[in-house]
Amino acid sequence: ESQLPFKGKICLITAGPTYEAIDPVRFIGNHSSGKMGAALAMEMASKGAQVILIMGPSHVVTDHHLIQRVDVKTAQQMYDCVHSHIERVDYAIFSAAVADYRPINPASQKIKKKTDTLSIELVKNPDILASVGSMNKRPFLVGFALETENELEHAFAKAKKKNTDLLVLNSTRDKGAGFGKDTNKITLIDRDQNTIDFDTKPKTEVAKDIVDEIIKRVL
Ligand code: C5P
Repeated sequence: ESQLPFKGKICLITAGPTYEAIDPVRFIGNHSSGKMGAALAMEMASKGAQVILIMGPSHVVTDHHLIQRVDVKTAQQMYDCVHSHIERVDYAIFSAAVADYRPINPASQKIKKKTDTLSIELVKNPDILASVGSMNKRPFLVGFALETENELEHAFAKAKKKNTDLLVLNSTRDKGAGFGKDTNKITLIDRDQNTIDFDTKPKTEVAKDIVDEIIKRVL
């Protein structure tokens, strides 16, 4: 079954942004579209994996009989959902753009326009990837890093700190890469801090490259 290398394996994927409530009608979010994670889910499923796709708010369609999609809103919900499944997972790919902070006390009613300035106090969200990276018996772990400067240096540090088997680096400085786009340009960093550079290509093709590198390392 060489076309279905992941048959019988379970893959958990986080994707999309998270929305952190400020009040009942407003939130802190980001421009992640969920396209990269969706492409990875389709690619893993097409190679036989049973995929648990934990998706922040996104309209991206991910229809495949092997993809079980769970829609969540906040980082805390994503964290809880990941940990409710993680014990039985063989591969985990964390492509979600998780909010690092959330409003500490979301207002229960819409905040009224009064003062000239308004402060919202934020508190750190749990780091989902790091929490899985520190587990004793953990799945093969793929993380993402979106950097704006000193990309490689930051990515090397992130790979170490979060204990990833593969880290996918993309830079906001690359044209044709990142949020909302249909293309991406990545560099992969493995456990031995080897780097592999790829050209700009459609996210569906980028997903194939990433999955091929996973296959090389586990099968
Ligand atoms: O530290 P940074 O947010 O740049 O790390 C990015 C990686 O960590 C991504 O794989 C992202 O999905 C993951 N992450 C997470 N939970 C957070 C923050 C980031 O899983 N709270």
